[in-house]
Amino acid sequence: MTDTATLRARNADFWAQTSPGWVHQADRHDEIGRPLGAVALDQLQPQPGERVLDVGCGCGGTTAEIARAVGPSGNAVGLDLAEAMVATARSRFSVPGAAGPQFVTGDIETLGAVPGAPFDAVYARMTLMLLADPVAGLTTIRRSMRSGGRMAATVFRDGGANPWLPSALLGAAAHLRPLPPLPIGDDPGPFAFADAARTTRLLTAAGFTGIDIHPHDVTLDAPDDPEAVAEWLIEISPASNAYRDTEPTTQGHARAGVAHLLERFRTPGAGYRLPTGLWLITAHSDRTSTR
Ligand SMILES: C[S@@+](CC[C@H](N)C(=O)[O-])C[C@H]1O[C@@H](n2cnc3c(N)ncnc32)[C@H](O)[C@@H]1O
Repeated sequence: MTDTATLRARNADFWAQTSPGWVHQADRHDEIGRPLGAVALDQLQPQPGERVLDVGCGCGGTTAEIARAVGPSGNAVGLDLAEAMVATARSRFSVPGAAGPQFVTGDIETLGAVPGAPFDAVYARMTLMLLADPVAGLTTIRRSMRSGGRMAATVFRDGGANPWLPSALLGAAAHLRPLPPLPIGDDPGPFAFADAARTTRLLTAAGFTGIDIHPHDVTLDAPDDPEAVAEWLIEISPASNAYRDTEPTTQGHARAGVAHLLERFRTPGAGYRLPTGLWLITAHSDRTSTR
């Protein structure tokens, strides 16, 4: 088992290396990826005037959506570990001197509390399973909420519910330099929260109450553009850095490899439909926790 300090350093390094791909794909990911978090946003129902935290906000698209819901009298704060993504989020959505989303760089595991706390609500799309020390990260989240505040988050279920997900790695790897090691067991990674019983234990240890974890299936619809869809998936995957570092012909081979594996999810002329299995996690901050 890998120790927490090593996992945390690996996580920070991974997101620093992968950020350019996410930045490049920010608009496309906002569009195709919206179903990944829509159910959590529906559940959270941010209200005008509320203070809402978006944990692992990436390039800020979801924080901007929350900012529209809470309006000028509210406050939407996006937090992310990756400086480049936070800078991109600011340049996409912050208007100096005007109300709107705010973006903060930081590691949710090591902050005492998130600037802007206490929050009425917390949202996290596809981030919690990536935490090196989930109890530490969830404890900061819970501490940053007002007493009785609500959280809604989405994470992937298991690999079987997300059959397209390995395509970026499997299709591109043969063409690129060696990729980072794959997660083992409970190591941070796409399927680290696949076991709902474990997730419940982690949330309980962090002081959450009212924990509810439900399966939710969505479909990601992507346009019938195999090159663009393959590049989107490569650039937001662990192959992102190696892909960026290689020359255009090899990049083309990597895209072709991924497009080949994705072919079963494509209807020519109509586009891609990627079946995606999520857990919707909802919980409340405990009014009495002393952590
Ligand atoms: C899979 S991406 C999801 C981004 C965005 N929520 C979305 O759905 O498009 C995970 C994000 O979590 C961030 N992240 C990972 N570990 C983090 C941590 N310990 N503290 C804050 N952010 C973290 C990464 O930098 C990355 O932007």
